[in-house]
Amino acid sequence: MWKSVEAAPPDAILGLTEAFKNDSRPEKVNLGVGVYKDEAGSTPVLKAVKKAEKLLLAAEKTKSYMPIAGEAAYGDEVQKMIFGSVCDRAGTAHTPGGTGALRLAGELLKAFSSKTIWMSNPTWANHNNIFAAAGLTVKEYPYYNPATKSLDSEGFFAALEKIPEGDAVLLHACCHNPTGVDLTADQWTEVAKLASEKGWVPFVDFAYQGFGESLEADRAGVEAMLNTGIEFLVASSFSKNFGLYRERTGALTVVAGSADEAAVAMSYVKKTARVIYSNPPAHGGLIVTAILQDSGLSKLWQKELDVMRDRIAGMRIALADGLKQRGVPMDCSFITQQKGMFSFSGLNKEQVDFLREEKAIYIVGSGRINVAGLTPGNMNTVCDAIAESFKG
Ligand code: LMR
Repeated sequence: MWKSVEAAPPDAILGLTEAFKNDSRPEKVNLGVGVYKDEAGSTPVLKAVKKAEKLLLAAEKTKSYMPIAGEAAYGDEVQKMIFGSVCDRAGTAHTPGGTGALRLAGELLKAFSSKTIWMSNPTWANHNNIFAAAGLTVKEYPYYNPATKSLDSEGFFAALEKIPEGDAVLLHACCHNPTGVDLTADQWTEVAKLASEKGWVPFVDFAYQGFGESLEADRAGVEAMLNTGIEFLVASSFSKNFGLYRERTGALTVVAGSADEAAVAMSYVKKTARVIYSNPPAHGGLIVTAILQDSGLSKLWQKELDVMRDRIAGMRIALADGLKQRGVPMDCSFITQQKGMFSFSGLNKEQVDFLREEKAIYIVGSGRINVAGLTPGNMNTVCDAIAESFKG
């Protein structure tokens, strides 16, 4: 089967981590994959998660299968988190990570929509592959203006006006990956209005709730959709906000026209999940449910989430200041304006290669820097190297 087959290229993001692990230079810094690091450069298990795990371990009575869509309590907690309360015209399935939710939705869109999905230019490197693999036609709408390092609002709204009825439109709820450029609440209202008028289906990828402004403020996009009464989909990931990366903990929420329609939608969610992965891995979902159902654990988790968000904001300021002090030939103010884990630096391919090859600093090929991987310990090294990359 493999004799005459060329090896596939490494993954644009996770492939970098493999290369990083194989790099023997002691000064190496991984600013590729979107994983949060604390000041000491580690990714510890959150205290709230550890406490929930202890309780779960003590109470655990079975390793029998989960229901295909996961437990109802998980679905309710996810809806409270993304909407503020349970929504009677929505159904939620527990999925293996946000990626599992995206793929599951891709299958549903192939069966029930026009089979075309639109995504922002640029977007997360894996989006295109996931939906293409599900058999959808993938198209792009303008989003980011590299000249202003902000939203190309004219191009964006003009494109949304022209998207045909029945097509799906993937939108990042907050902390746009990779640009960090988010829509304002007013812009979300405009997007929801267009979706309602034109009849296309919003599909909101919600992978960073709580990393933008706050758990509540980051809901602006989802709330705008909900308020119009339209149908839409939400993919949630709890990799970042609960630090559950390897537990593959996510959810797909289908918002339909009515409770009866949501039940029909969920019957297909289950039918589809059953043939892809049968039923979800339990551990991460049980942790999320245990934390969200317990007010003490919930408070502790929210505090830990605030610490992560504040530390990233501090690193943004330090990066912008460090580059300014070194006289890099660009206006660095965009670094503190972007939201979430990433800074879309504008560094070109030569600079990205220089950083990796000469300085052992790994960032994604698009120039995306994981700000959450910067620490007081590596900040000077990184700023020096970036400044040097400008000298060619
Ligand atoms: C990222 O964008 O780095 C994360 O979402 C991790 C991943 O799976 O790519």
